[in-house]
Amino acid sequence: MSIDPFINALRTSLEPSAILTDPSLRARYETDQRALMTGRSRAVLRPKTTEEVATITKIAHQLGVELVPQGGNTGYCGGATPDDSATQAIVSLERMTAVRSLDRIGSTISVDAGITLQAVHDAAAREGLAFGLSLGSQGSCTIGGNLATNAGGISVLRYGMARELTLGLEVVLPDGTIFNDMLALRKNNTGYDIKQLFIGSEGSLGIITGAVLRLYPAVQTYATAWVKLAPDAPLSEMIAIARRESADLISSFEFISNRSLALAPASSVGALSGGAGGAVLLELSSSSSKIPLEDVLTGVLERFIEEGWVDDALVANGGRQRDEMWRRREHLPENEKSAGGSVKHDIATPLSSADNFRREAIELVRRYDQALELSMYGHVGDGNIHFNVLVPKGLDRLSFSAKIENELSPALFDLALKHGGTFSAEHGVGRFKRHLLNNYADGQKLQLMNAVKRAVDPRFLMNNGSIIAADRQI
Ligand code: FAD
Ligand code: MLT
Ligand code: ZN
Repeated sequence: MSIDPFINALRTSLEPSAILTDPSLRARYETDQRALMTGRSRAVLRPKTTEEVATITKIAHQLGVELVPQGGNTGYCGGATPDDSATQAIVSLERMTAVRSLDRIGSTISVDAGITLQAVHDAAAREGLAFGLSLGSQGSCTIGGNLATNAGGISVLRYGMARELTLGLEVVLPDGTIFNDMLALRKNNTGYDIKQLFIGSEGSLGIITGAVLRLYPAVQTYATAWVKLAPDAPLSEMIAIARRESADLISSFEFISNRSLALAPASSVGALSGGAGGAVLLELSSSSSKIPLEDVLTGVLERFIEEGWVDDALVANGGRQRDEMWRRREHLPENEKSAGGSVKHDIATPLSSADNFRREAIELVRRYDQALELSMYGHVGDGNIHFNVLVPKGLDRLSFSAKIENELSPALFDLALKHGGTFSAEHGVGRFKRHLLNNYADGQKLQLMNAVKRAVDPRFLMNNGSIIAADRQI
């Protein structure tokens, strides 16, 4: 029997497979997916129900044990990784994967928070419906993690971020009580919309155990183009035109720089290369097969060509070619990893500043070091660009990252802010960007965050050190 009073107390309520204390079993939960940080946990706990999460949290509260919620562990900011004190316990929701109910007429789905995003897509599709959140990591990331980070992805343009897709929420609070707001209502103006506080709170206010999500009619037709850009093509202008000319039927407008495209293995490139200015993956979609999407897309592309913004464009001739285009886009993070990794800057600016930011940011990097290589891609339709500095061959990834984050990243973030932007568009703050939140957030916002944290979690037991830490104001 363990002499850890916390583990002993848990053993009276949970089955043995819910408590992992063996270091070899805990290891995969203790490192973030990019292997930037490895912590040491007291235990990994794997509840199967909301009540078990509540039991864990109550005991942790009684004994003053800090908890780190974890979903699919695909996050980019180290928010699901414990510190190295071996005192924090990870609460993994990987065994809470049920679809609780699906309302086909009301177009809503109620799920356990540990369900993967892909499983929600699949459940919706079985009823002729669709869930609007799509990420490259959807096979592994969970709804709890998506809501905790307010995830974005490739279809925000059409459906919004995770927050906009959430109707109801169930959360276990830091003292073990359950906040139940699992209503499937579009309209409900009854006081503060408390659930919104938990969305984007990255596990710092409670453990999300369930959610009611908004579904849409399943897409019946797509029209997808691989657009080869001319140099200096004005992406902001192109997006505005494409939205107008397509009656806002665009669901994705993804920019990919040539350096990012070149990271792919040669065998997977085919005709999908970029023009001198890179490429855009532009997709229109509709739940009605009566809308002539391809004609609409062709009209948009003709306009781009007339303006001289596009060298060439390939319209997907069917599902297979569409899949190839999307594979090209979705493999970018993996290709960056295989090429030695990158220092990521998840920047958003207002759409109208996106081109100026990109141009000035490239100049800034050139001035810092002419030899650095940039992999830039992302959801430009939402003003969000992943402005990544590739780790040069032969250099140590971690020390290169530290150098860039000290010497170059602040200037890039300053530039984003100068353009009315942000240092974190969709990946969140976690442990890695807490100092940036301190530096860049409005002072009043920091005070309010601190006040909310102290009201909900006065003893800082929830994900202490991620976003907000007990030893500092933020
Ligand atoms: P985790 O990584 O486990 O946790 C992330 C944070 O949420 C942590 O702070 C954790 O404590 C908290 N958390 C997790 N579950 C809960 C819960 N149940 N209750 C309370 N807090 C919780 N992100 C985007 O936004 N857009 C993208 O396009 C995108 N593409 C990606 C592509 C790849 C290949 C990869 C690897 C990642 C990508 N991501 C993207 C990042 C990541 O997938 C998202 O942030 C995702 O939402 C994290 O979900 P998760 O279940 O893996 O959460
Ligand atoms: C993406 O859009 O692919 C991710 O958010 C960025 C990344 O994985 O680097
Ligand atoms: Zn992204």
